[in-house]
Amino acid sequence: MTLSNNKNGQIQPKHDMFSVQCSNAYDAWREQRLGGYPVAWDESIVTLADMMNPSDTELLRIVNFCAKYNMAIYDSASQGQKLIPQKDIAAALAGFCARLGLTSMEQHRSAQLGGVVAIEKNVGDGPSDRRGGYIPYTDKPLSWHTDGYYNAPVDRIRAMVLHCRQDALEGGVSELLDPEIVYIRLRDENIDYVKAFMHPQAMIIPENTDPRSPYRPDSVGPVFEVDEKTGALHMRYSARARNIIWRDDPTTLKARDFLTEVLKTDPLIARYKLKSGQGVICNNVLHNRTGFIDASDAGATRLLYRIRYKERIRREL
Ligand SMILES: [Fe+2]
Repeated sequence: MTLSNNKNGQIQPKHDMFSVQCSNAYDAWREQRLGGYPVAWDESIVTLADMMNPSDTELLRIVNFCAKYNMAIYDSASQGQKLIPQKDIAAALAGFCARLGLTSMEQHRSAQLGGVVAIEKNVGDGPSDRRGGYIPYTDKPLSWHTDGYYNAPVDRIRAMVLHCRQDALEGGVSELLDPEIVYIRLRDENIDYVKAFMHPQAMIIPENTDPRSPYRPDSVGPVFEVDEKTGALHMRYSARARNIIWRDDPTTLKARDFLTEVLKTDPLIARYKLKSGQGVICNNVLHNRTGFIDASDAGATRLLYRIRYKERIRREL
């Protein structure tokens, strides 16, 4: 297998690079990937002078971060800019994402106009608001996961933007980790862990019969899968203990336990609290959130906007 580098010097994964039989190409890619760390994320934030009209230079910085780390943090308010008015947020985010190659939005049950989901605590529990009662829409901690881990294969979530309109008074800190680093950690520990996580029945999320959501059948699939067309690695994962059925196989269960440890201790985990006007754009990296306390004044409660996409962020501008 030959390796090709992108304009940004990153080795482009081919369809077989993550297979356990592939070694030389994988080793070169692994070395490059780990060589890009550590990252001081506080000092690596891409400043956007006008999020409604980002420059090629700004977009290129985001593309390059995503090519190396599968994520980038941006700031649309660092230069004293006004926050984008609420009525314009959906269009601003969608326009920004489209410049980065993201156009196929998911159809989420909670999406409002423009495919945007508002993640906030104070939502109703009635039938008119389908967010009520789900943990993301509370002030509780959210455990490690990739988005859409319960989706059918045709609805894989490959990228998303999480844009902070208002941060919490205390807490609401995110941890983020590139699934490619997790893959490397597992493979370094025991290549059989990778094989177990690529098994087509590695992880089952039982059907959802909650009347607030459309019926969803069992979601059965691997933890790691490789996109046939692009060679990109995709990860389905949730750390939730309830409602996840792991394949009853000793290696799978050991791999799961090893992953749990990685997600507690890995030095490459990014910890960051998004502030108003900042956001994360990523190829659906693993993430969590600490619990939080809102300020008591109205209008100062934590509010994030999210759009999820079926394709990945472009690798070059
Ligand atoms: Fe999430």
